[in-house]
Amino acid sequence: MNGQAHWDEEMTVLGPGISEAVRWAGLAVTEAAGMHLTDTSGRRIADLMGAAGVNLLGHSHPAYVEALTRQIGSWMIGAHASDARLEMTRLLRHLLPAHLDRVQLYSSGSEAVESAIRLAKSATGRFEILSFWQSFHGRTLGSLAHTSGARTGLGPTAPGSISAPYANCSRCPLRLTSPACEFACVDLARDILREQSTGSIAAILVEPVQGRAGNVVPPTGYLRALRRLADEHGALLIADESMTGMGRTGTILASDQPDVLPDVVVLGKGLGNGYPVSAICAPTNLMQRGPFGAPSASSSSYGGFPLACRAVAVVAQTVHRQQLADRAGEVGARTLTRLRQDLAGLALVSSVHGVGMAIGIGLNVTGKEQLREVFQQLVAAGVLVMTGGHTLRLYPPLTADETELTAAVDTLVSVLQRYKAPT
Ligand SMILES: Cc1ncc(COP(=O)(O)O)c(C=O)c1O
Repeated sequence: MNGQAHWDEEMTVLGPGISEAVRWAGLAVTEAAGMHLTDTSGRRIADLMGAAGVNLLGHSHPAYVEALTRQIGSWMIGAHASDARLEMTRLLRHLLPAHLDRVQLYSSGSEAVESAIRLAKSATGRFEILSFWQSFHGRTLGSLAHTSGARTGLGPTAPGSISAPYANCSRCPLRLTSPACEFACVDLARDILREQSTGSIAAILVEPVQGRAGNVVPPTGYLRALRRLADEHGALLIADESMTGMGRTGTILASDQPDVLPDVVVLGKGLGNGYPVSAICAPTNLMQRGPFGAPSASSSSYGGFPLACRAVAVVAQTVHRQQLADRAGEVGARTLTRLRQDLAGLALVSSVHGVGMAIGIGLNVTGKEQLREVFQQLVAAGVLVMTGGHTLRLYPPLTADETELTAAVDTLVSVLQRYKAPT
């Protein structure tokens, strides 16, 4: 069956609300290895979409395939103690900052964000959550209150949800410039809390790098300023590292910065490298607080099953042994430099930014139709990327062969160079 016929048949049954970029790509994939997908016509496509940051180790990573296959064959249902879970807990203890000494497992980023919010409410006895403009924290009803651009038409969000501008310096809502502004956006957040909070702030929920907004990297010191703001209110700082975690931005956690020490870290996406597993990590004294810490109060049907733990263990082991966080930082920096040079001066490109293996290319497109056209030209040339707003988002695997990555970037650059200024 050809790819188009394949898609058409599936789409007679699937709900239409699946990922727009996946629909635009329209690929029917038969197999995948490393950074590449192969479609039904045998064409190889460089996968820089990486399922929006899920593909951490690369497709069909041999150690991952071997370990998960072995685990399915031995035992996969039930949250009892297992070799896989023991190995996972040891590795996470080794890789994560020492104060984050407890882990609770879930199946998706949204679910883990919900859990982090429940933990914050339990630990503080308060109810309000501050999050940021253009954030993405998921689409379940609690997380949706902290996700921009997805709420229209869905009625009131969770009470106690407060939002303030993020430090998106290339499009500063305050029209200021960093560092001269001295984090005026954090001062505004402080003012917003003074005006809107009922004195019940439980947590500040933040992405260390805003993924869906286009891989927006805030200036150094921003998370520290938010830490201070949280402390002023006796609130927790929750770093949602679903996209950034496990090395993608050059360190195991993007929030692992001086004087930040988030109280709760959310992990997802690359944590399982495709197996749907997520986690919250927090200190014992917070995680044990009731009601969150009460028996069965924070469990889920699949939390801590052996296959999920095996996936996390292989990811953690591989990231650790192959020093993939360092590699992401180095290869990502070279890729970013190269893109900045080659895309400089192009009317289509408004900015090139990012950190590690999370890169954003802002486009001066006239609207969604032109974005779709650029995206589909890239797919036709053999490069698949993610979109977010008017940004192309690149998430190569941390293991990407640099020659292959350079070849994919060559193709991407040559496609973008074809475009003239919008009329
Ligand atoms: C930062 C962040 N948090 C939460 C989520 C939601 O994760 P999931 O789609 O696994 O529910 C995402 C997904 O893109 C994300 O990027």
